[in-house]
Amino acid sequence: MPFPKDFLWGGATAANQIEGGFDEGGKGLSIADMLSNGSHASPRTITSQTEEGLYYPNRIASDFYHHYEEDIALMAEMGYEAYRMSIAWARIYPTGEEDEPNREGLDFYKKVFACLRKHGIEPIVTLSHYEMPLHLTNRYNGWADRYWLTFNEINCGCLSLGNYMSLGIRNEGTRNFLDQVDDVNVRYQGLHHQFVASALTVIEGHRINPDFRIGNMIAMMPVYPLTCNPKDMLLFQKNWREMQYYCGDVQIRGAYPYFAKKLWEDKGICLNITDEDVEILKKGTVDFCSFSYYQTNCVTTDESVATSSGNLLGGAKNPYLEASEWGWQIDPDGLRYTLNELYSRYQVPLIVVENGLGAKDVLEDDKTVHDPYRIEYLRKHIVAMEEAIEDGVDLFGYTWWGCIDLVSASTGEMAKRYGFIYVDADDYGKGSFKRYRKDSFFWYQKVIASNGADLD
Ligand code: BG6
Repeated sequence: MPFPKDFLWGGATAANQIEGGFDEGGKGLSIADMLSNGSHASPRTITSQTEEGLYYPNRIASDFYHHYEEDIALMAEMGYEAYRMSIAWARIYPTGEEDEPNREGLDFYKKVFACLRKHGIEPIVTLSHYEMPLHLTNRYNGWADRYWLTFNEINCGCLSLGNYMSLGIRNEGTRNFLDQVDDVNVRYQGLHHQFVASALTVIEGHRINPDFRIGNMIAMMPVYPLTCNPKDMLLFQKNWREMQYYCGDVQIRGAYPYFAKKLWEDKGICLNITDEDVEILKKGTVDFCSFSYYQTNCVTTDESVATSSGNLLGGAKNPYLEASEWGWQIDPDGLRYTLNELYSRYQVPLIVVENGLGAKDVLEDDKTVHDPYRIEYLRKHIVAMEEAIEDGVDLFGYTWWGCIDLVSASTGEMAKRYGFIYVDADDYGKGSFKRYRKDSFFWYQKVIASNGADLD
């Protein structure tokens, strides 16, 4: 059997997308609390104040804040060994500037951890997942100034899309979530500050306990060359360097890669990197590499080819792949490819901490949800992981994204559901918030019980 005996099976969420309770227990406002909902067709709006006529879905989300015991019991029922979750920064430091943490916030997470321990589930905690205190954005423009922590999908900072959500930077000029006014120098400087913050966190974590295992987290958004035209091949290689390896090289190898200088020159970036920063990056390398993986895209130099395949990353359509309703091209083989690529470059253990299918589910009258599409997606991606392990990759775990339905990060919809557990709430926070097991719940339960052997 290819999956190692101690392989970690589980699910993943982020505080801002699942917790709700946005103004309870002394929590401060976060940047996610200021994002309106949107859809595949209309982008979310970034606002400074709440505005009449707009709805802010992360404020209630799936109400995990009041349902965590029930939710964790359901995860345990599925057999989870690991739960990737994040801590809402503004629940601990409401503005980000307090000297003392907010007791009530700490108590909430203590209760969550105790509940996980009671059920024998290992928490994998992301320190920052798209939700810095709003105050830090308003006062310092987020990571454009120097503040420290460690991060979800750090390489989203390479995209203008990552300005607000990843870096908390707000350049006035547009409220469009997908198309933000961008100062590329400020963005890459903010990303540099995140690298230093992350490395300092790793150093401190290892000082507290040398056995702590601390990883980075990259959004793997692999591309293929659309054709065998060597120009397409070069473009593909450039994309991998800039999007997939730029951050991984710093956090895993401890220094900027050789191609960074040219990348900065081409983009007109001039970074302030101190000697002390260089030392910190060298010392604070991570123990393992974690990443999210949902889809792949194609790149081409042929300008006559449409390069917006309907998903938020653009790219040319791959004729061999099907896509989700949100245009995310489904590619299990791409996961095997990605695992091999990452392992051959870094030779550190890997874990897939996000993978999943956002789809519209129907709650039937008898309260069942039939989601064969999700099972199919999951099955194929598990097979791909199995194959990668057979190839020789050191893969130690898998946490499915949005194991309980939650608010979509890109669109703010509840209708884009990932969960094995259905949450009875709509895009506007209306519903009973009751939880129901989908067919995929029972299927994944079987997979975990058989350590990945039973995929029927
Ligand atoms: C990842 C993020 O990029 O993708 C999650 O870490 C996000 O926060 C997930 O929810 C799926 O994306 P979306 O837009 O469908 O919620």
